[in-house]
Amino acid sequence: QMRNSLNKMIDAVEDPKVRAKFEVEMDSFFSLFRRYLADKASGTTLDWNQIRSPTPDEVVAYSSLQDGDNSNLSKLAVLKLNGGLGTSMGCVGPKSVIEVRDGQSFLDLSVRQIEHLNKTYDTDVPLLLMNSFNTNDDTQIIVRKYQGHRIRIRTFNQSRYPRVFKDSLLPVPQSFDDNLDAWYPPGHGDLFESLVSSGELDVLLEQGKEILFVSNGDNLGATVDTKILNHMVETGAEYIMELTDKTRADVKGGTLINYNGQVRLLEIAQVPKDHVEDFKSIKKFTNFNTNNLWINLRAIKRLVEANALEMEIIPNSKSISVGNSEMQVLQLETAVGAAIRHFKGAHGVVVPRSRFLPVKTCSDLMLVKSDLFNLQHGALKLDSARFGGAPLIKLGSHFKKVSNFQQRIPHMPRILELDHLTVTGNVYFGRGIQLKGTVIIVCSDGQRIDIPNGSILENVVVTGNLTI
Ligand code: UTP
Repeated sequence: QMRNSLNKMIDAVEDPKVRAKFEVEMDSFFSLFRRYLADKASGTTLDWNQIRSPTPDEVVAYSSLQDGDNSNLSKLAVLKLNGGLGTSMGCVGPKSVIEVRDGQSFLDLSVRQIEHLNKTYDTDVPLLLMNSFNTNDDTQIIVRKYQGHRIRIRTFNQSRYPRVFKDSLLPVPQSFDDNLDAWYPPGHGDLFESLVSSGELDVLLEQGKEILFVSNGDNLGATVDTKILNHMVETGAEYIMELTDKTRADVKGGTLINYNGQVRLLEIAQVPKDHVEDFKSIKKFTNFNTNNLWINLRAIKRLVEANALEMEIIPNSKSISVGNSEMQVLQLETAVGAAIRHFKGAHGVVVPRSRFLPVKTCSDLMLVKSDLFNLQHGALKLDSARFGGAPLIKLGSHFKKVSNFQQRIPHMPRILELDHLTVTGNVYFGRGIQLKGTVIIVCSDGQRIDIPNGSILENVVVTGNLTI
């Protein structure tokens, strides 16, 4: 039934070129869908007893890597994953266009990083952006600004797959141009397929590029690191995953394991229920995937052409409105990290935390916008005056959307000496504020707290109406 519905949509497309491309996309979707049904029927799960810690050569310490020269930069291309929307932060467009510092977005800052690299080492490292149908238009507006700059930016779109009704397992879209809600970008695991089908992989190979450095669009800590690049070239590894040590805040991140003698990524979704606590233990699984990945381009081509890149399917449930009713739909996704087991010599490198600066919430955004970090050619560096790691910031639901956050904290407070900040309720910050130690601001329902301009709050709990 699924196949018939897809065929009907394909046949109805008039333009032969558009139809051919759409057919390839729907075929890939169909094989993912079939694999999902087969996995569901066989109930294959991991055997917990087969899971071993990775061997010492499967996870190496960054500090053990040798310094080297910059000659391998000519083999490198950088790719930012840019297909996801910033919905969890209340954005309608891509997360990468959120303003981070001095009017510059994540994307602008990534461009600065590569421009600086090319200028410093007189190289020509291209920047690729994997967009999706959801993010392409907004991204192009930013990319246009950089024509004539010392950087080559290439963009391509990842696949657009049909969402599936949960009860009938039929596709949501009725036609090729059905509305956007009916489709989804199938996770960053789609990178491999889309890189090949867009022709971008061949373009890179023709330019003599051999290695692709991939990272999340919001990770401004993911700068090009020649130590890791040289290590990749020297070891001949086809895939390197940057891991970083777990803290209690990131117990849910995927971790590398040895399974039947093979390196694999283990995600929490794959863990049997009675072992979830084991998985979260920071003693047993000490580090997690930052999604900074170094991947050999020829290996990608070989594996995609052989149809060998099977990645665990992550079924993601959503609810969408169809007509007047809310319907439960499924989207089948894959993650780029899950492909590690298919690459030769694949291993992990445990990097310093500074290479992992994700922005998933407005609390994270506050950190990267603050005086805790200094901007150096598009990269964020923790201020040397900071004692210890980053403070713990918890902004309540009034700060969930970026627009709310910008209204409520229009001027970043100084937080270099902050350890912990909790803010809940209807709170507004003035200008020139400094926060130190532990600061807790709680505004009860129906009230409003305005933190006055120039306040210094140190180890205080503020409730009700504030008078300083
Ligand atoms: P994710 O959606 O996987 O991560 O996007 P997240 O929500 O930011 O954080 P976690 O890992 O679930 O906590 C990570 C990166 O992958 C891109 C996003 O744009 C982001 O840069 N992405 C995601 C794609 O390029 N395509 C997708 O289909 C999904």
